[in-house]
Formats: sequence, structure tokens, C-alpha cells
Amino acid sequence: MTYDLGAIRDQFPSLSRKDDGVLRVYFDNPAGTQVSKCIVESMSACLIESNANILGGFTTSNRADAVIANAHQAMADFLNAASADEIIFGQNMTTLTLHISRSIGRTLKPGDEIIVSRMDHDANIAPWLLLAEDLNLTIKWLPFNTETFEFDLGELDKLLTEKTRLVCVGAASNLTGTINDVKAICAKAKAAGAWTYIDAVQLAPHVPIDVQDLDCDFLACSAYKFFGPHQGILWGRREILESLQPYKARPATNDLPGRFETGTQSHEGMAGTAAAVDYFAWVGENFAQDYVGSYQQFQGRRKYVHAALDYMFAYESDLASYLIDGLHGLPGVVIQGITAKDAIDRRVPTVSFTAEGAISANIAALLAQQNIFVWSGHSYAVEVVKALGIYESGGVVRIGPVHYNNTAEIDRLLLALDEILPKARAA
Ligand SMILES: Cc1ncc(COP(=O)(O)O)c(C=O)c1O
Repeated sequence: MTYDLGAIRDQFPSLSRKDDGVLRVYFDNPAGTQVSKCIVESMSACLIESNANILGGFTTSNRADAVIANAHQAMADFLNAASADEIIFGQNMTTLTLHISRSIGRTLKPGDEIIVSRMDHDANIAPWLLLAEDLNLTIKWLPFNTETFEFDLGELDKLLTEKTRLVCVGAASNLTGTINDVKAICAKAKAAGAWTYIDAVQLAPHVPIDVQDLDCDFLACSAYKFFGPHQGILWGRREILESLQPYKARPATNDLPGRFETGTQSHEGMAGTAAAVDYFAWVGENFAQDYVGSYQQFQGRRKYVHAALDYMFAYESDLASYLIDGLHGLPGVVIQGITAKDAIDRRVPTVSFTAEGAISANIAALLAQQNIFVWSGHSYAVEVVKALGIYESGGVVRIGPVHYNNTAEIDRLLLALDEILPKARAA
């Protein structure tokens, strides 16, 4: 099957923007993706046609109610949630996690244990460290193998005890790109009687997510990482969400999902998030026929969204291989992540590297001069760079292609790096 890159790139107006005549190359996607025009249109329509507070009973308010209901349903389709009211919107993944951690904390007592991982972004670590500090809980650290860049789940077995209440892991690393075996982790945690809190921020743009199949208890992601606006989303298992005591204003509803959606929400952010899900569905319906058959158990949008992500991931895996091969050709460059061709499906296309004798921030700055956008440093994956022994030396350069990037952009990056690396080393 051919990949219709032209049709996809046409959806993203920012991809054709130039600065001083030079086309932009967006490899900063793990920090935030570009948005398709249907998302811009949806947000604009929301602000023009539905701009009111909710439950007012007049035209614009009724429309705002509809925007909100549609957004919850869209995210339920995206994550294969059992119902739309298990979807909680909020400012971003970090804020949602800090918020729900307060309610989870009300179920814990001193001495209870939380497992966090050395592979995670700090947004799935710091909230639990803070909770542990407040409640005298014990934190246990799940390490990763710094040669394979993967967890050894035998290590998790050693950490789980009858006191473990929560296991917090990322579905995909924002630094190494490793995709973790979340389903196996959740099964182990469940067998030990613990809940699981999954950070799927970096998985969501690349791989279809099915919270029912994963059998997790909480899963958080951010729409601005999957081609939508700045908006966080948390899914929680209904029984748990209903059993927790929310931190909320007293007049606010006690029903789901409102009991966890504190204050007035970003209706336009929700409209844009629903449009991002519809964008995936559009890709699925128009281009991903070969993958639709795997999702016969789903109907309509849910089916097409999941097929679209498979279709995109196959293309992204080719991009990742191409990028890895190219980086291997540059002297002194070390990829901090999975590189084996037969393991390419165990990573997202986010590829981080260090270059002997050069500071990553200098490389990123020199690339920026050529209008090539990348990230450098630790990207809040502080524990990861510490475990890899590259914290003091300034972390990595992170190249994050997604489904709208192409090999020509990778060639431009590689050519630029070839020229830049000696300069960065001399700096
Ligand atoms: C893996 C991961 N988790 C969490 C976050 C934080 O997301 P947010 O900005 O929505 O709080 C990020 C942001 O880069 C991330 O990459």
C-alpha cells in the first residue's frame, strides 16, 4: 500500500511556511505537533458559534453543551473507553495528574507504596513524589536497562508487594522513544492489587490506544502532541472515578466527568481535540483500508481512528529506520535508544542522540539557524538522562518525525548535521 503523504501534508498549513525563503522542518513534534486545518476551523467555529458557558439553555450555550459532549465521545473513541463520561478534560497532562493525585491520595495511608519509573517524563513522577512527601508514602523506582533501553519486567516483580497501591509508567518514552509493554505491566500490577497510571502522551500520536485491552486504571495524554490544540485528557476506570472523592468547588456537579473537570473548561480546546480525532478518522476512512479489518469489533469513528494510527505508524517506522541509518553514518554520533531493525516496532520515531565532543544545545541552535526545529537537553525526562549518564553533559538532541514528515526533510537534517557537528565540536 502506498502512503498518501501529499494528501496528508496538504491538511497542515504550517508545513509549507517559509522564513526568509527557507522552508521549516518540524522535528520538534514530541514537544508539540502541528495542527491540521480542520482543527483550526473547528476551534474558530466554536468561538464564533458556540461561545457561551454551559447549561444556559439558550442557543450558544446549547451549542457549547454539544461541543463538550462531542469532545468526550471523540476521546472515548480515540482511547476505546467504555463510556464518554470516563473522559476528563483539563489544561494538560501534568495538571490533570497533579489534580487526580490529590483524590487518589485520599485512599492511601502512610507506608503504602507507589512505583514510578526511571524512564518516565517528570509529569508522571513528580506528582507521586509530592504525594509521597505529603502522606508518608514509600516510593519505589523501576529502572530500565540502559543498553536495551527497555524495562526488565522481572525488576517490576521484585518491587511489587502487598503494600503497592499504584504503578505509574509511561507508554512511550519522550526521550529514548521506547514503547513499553503496558499491558504486561498492568497485568502484573493488577495481580498485586495495585492501580496503574499510564502516561500515554508520547504514544498517542503514533499507536492506537485501547484502554480496555490494556486493562489500565488511568491513562493520560495531551491533544497538542497528537495534532490538536493545547488540551489535556485523562481517562479513568469508571468504578474508580466514582469511588474517589474529587477536589472541586461545592456547587460543581458530583457526576462524571464534571466532578473532576474543575472550573470552566477550554471549550475551543475540546472542539479542536474532537477535530483531531476526526482528522485521524478521515485518514482511516480514506487511506487505511488495509488496517480497518483489524478493528471489526469497533464501529464508525472508533474503527477508522485506530486503523489510521496503524497506517501512520507503519510509515513512521520506515522514517525512523531511515533516520537511524543516516545518524549512524555520522562520526561520533551515538543514538540513545533502540536501533535494531527487528525491534523498530518497539519504539516510536522519536530518535535522540549525543555527539562526542559537542554540546547538544549547540547542535540544536545551529540547526535552528537552518530552520530545522529540534529539541535538546533532557526534555523533562530527567531520570532518563541521569540513568544514561548524560545529565551533566547536557543531554541529547531529539529528532521527532511524525506521520507528516518525509525522507527529504531527514536528508536535509543529515546534511546540516554533517556540516554543523565539526562547528559544534569546536564551539
Ligand atoms: C511523556 C510525556 N508525559 C507528559 C508530558 C507533559 O504533558 P503536558 O504538557 O500535557 O503536561 C510530556 C510533555 O512533553 C511528555 O512528553
